[in-house]
Amino acid sequence: MENIIVLATGNEGKVREFRAMLADFPVELRSLNDFGPIPEAKEDGETFDDNAYKKASFTAKVLGLPAIADDSGLVVEALGGAPGVFSARYAGENATDQENIDKLLKEMTDKTNRAAAFECVISIAVPSGPALTYEARCEGEITTQPQGKEGFGYDPVFFSKELGKTFAEATMEEKNKVSHRGRALSEVVSEFDKILKWLKQRLDEAKPPKPDHTQFEHNDWSEDIMVK
Ligand code: IMP
Repeated sequence: MENIIVLATGNEGKVREFRAMLADFPVELRSLNDFGPIPEAKEDGETFDDNAYKKASFTAKVLGLPAIADDSGLVVEALGGAPGVFSARYAGENATDQENIDKLLKEMTDKTNRAAAFECVISIAVPSGPALTYEARCEGEITTQPQGKEGFGYDPVFFSKELGKTFAEATMEEKNKVSHRGRALSEVVSEFDKILKWLKQRLDEAKPPKPDHTQFEHNDWSEDIMVK
């Protein structure tokens, strides 16, 4: 049987990206959209690592299948690591990308240290709990004003040192080569044969042992309970 792994997201863009990256492996990737309504994992961890693990292990437990989740965000040195795990809701619960950018630029007005990094953690968990973790970072600086129209989130104010332009000025292909998510995903792809073996071992360990009739052989009560 083909290996089924659930991608713990309903975001079809992410699903397409993972499917494309893992197309050559014997794996069937499903998304949360394939399972009807299931409860959502709480993303209340203090680190990307916590949140990625929470999403992956919760999904694996609820569905009884191995699951992959990612968590990412922007870390700004002069702001003590903010917005960090609050990146999506920096300017409030349902904040738009523009509102988050406006708040960031305001907080950075008088800051000379503009060093920042995008970070991404990918967690791959089995229903019994254990997980593998892959992390990647991408260094850059916060610009003083938005530049470029591509991408999403903080891309217009994140100047990538490696690309020599903001993520919003880069093509998707250029961005994927250096980005936190691109790098974390490449590592998962390069390790994927090992990951599949690890998953199989963990799933086999969790199976209940097969009934062993030999243990009844010399008991005088075995005759009564063994199915003949
Ligand atoms: P998620 O964990 O991938 O959903 O990302 C959380 C938030 O971090 C997003 O809503 C964005 O605000 C920000 N973020 C993560 N990755 C990127 C990126 O590649 N470009 C811009 N913003 C990002």
